[in-house]
Amino acid sequence: MKKNILLIGGSYGIGLAIIKELEKDYTIYVASRTNDELSDLNVTHISFDAVSDTLDTSQLPDELHGFVFCPGSINLKPFKMLPIEAFQKDMEVNFFSLVKVMHLIIDKMVENSSMVFFSSVAVNKGMPFHTSIAASKGAIEGFAKSIAAEYAPKIRCNVIAPSITNTPLAKRLLNNDKKIDLMASRHPLNRVGHVVDIANMATFLIKEKSAWMTGQIINIDGGLSTLNVN
Ligand SMILES: NC(=O)c1ccc[n+]([C@@H]2O[C@H](COP(=O)([O-])OP(=O)(O)OC[C@H]3O[C@@H](n4cnc5c(N)ncnc54)[C@H](OP(=O)(O)O)[C@@H]3O)[C@@H](O)[C@H]2O)c1
Repeated sequence: MKKNILLIGGSYGIGLAIIKELEKDYTIYVASRTNDELSDLNVTHISFDAVSDTLDTSQLPDELHGFVFCPGSINLKPFKMLPIEAFQKDMEVNFFSLVKVMHLIIDKMVENSSMVFFSSVAVNKGMPFHTSIAASKGAIEGFAKSIAAEYAPKIRCNVIAPSITNTPLAKRLLNNDKKIDLMASRHPLNRVGHVVDIANMATFLIKEKSAWMTGQIINIDGGLSTLNVN
């Protein structure tokens, strides 16, 4: 029998790339607001808004072997232009929605199962205008490490921290060649991320190949967080 994976998000962006890598070998459940790009894929779609809805778990199997949480935001502004409501909104999308789903699915996660969450390069490397998103992704990193400790050895939990990756979420920052070149030049590996760069790591973390990894924050960022080549 195929193993079951739940993705919150996956209708486009990094999550969709993950589905394309896992589709053949796993039974996949995708919970998201839209499903336009899923029609040719062998997945079960659950209509779900992670901010406002409660996940209908009756549509899920009793046992989950993998869980990936994709919703996120990029809200870049000077700190003084970010009222508390902006921080609360980013926390809702990135973090509280994850906690709510986790409460509903944690008992479905079986022995040797694996969870993957997403942070951002901006948690490890301080960047101007990132206070709100860095704070909400920082919450995910601390949460993931605590979950990994609390549920070891039964459930593994790891986090991927990407730098800018070409997806609908990052469209506003990458919508012409000049912006793409500028963003690329900030990275030691001189390009922005492709969805497969991130999806490759996520699928590795879901699979048994990563069976001795848990509680890790993995930087997939073209070297941005750790190297200074200028
Ligand atoms: N792209 C980047 O540059 C970048 C950089 C650093 C970190 N990240 C993080 O990586 C993760 C994936 O990013 P991405 O670029 O693939 O994002 P994306 O292009 O916005 O895709 C997000 C996915 O999550 C779903 N989603 C968003 N809000 C949702 C909600 N309220 N309820 C249910 N589903 C929701 C979307 O589907 P629906 O709209 O159909 O619901 C979509 O399938 C995010 O956590 C992001 O913060 C991305």
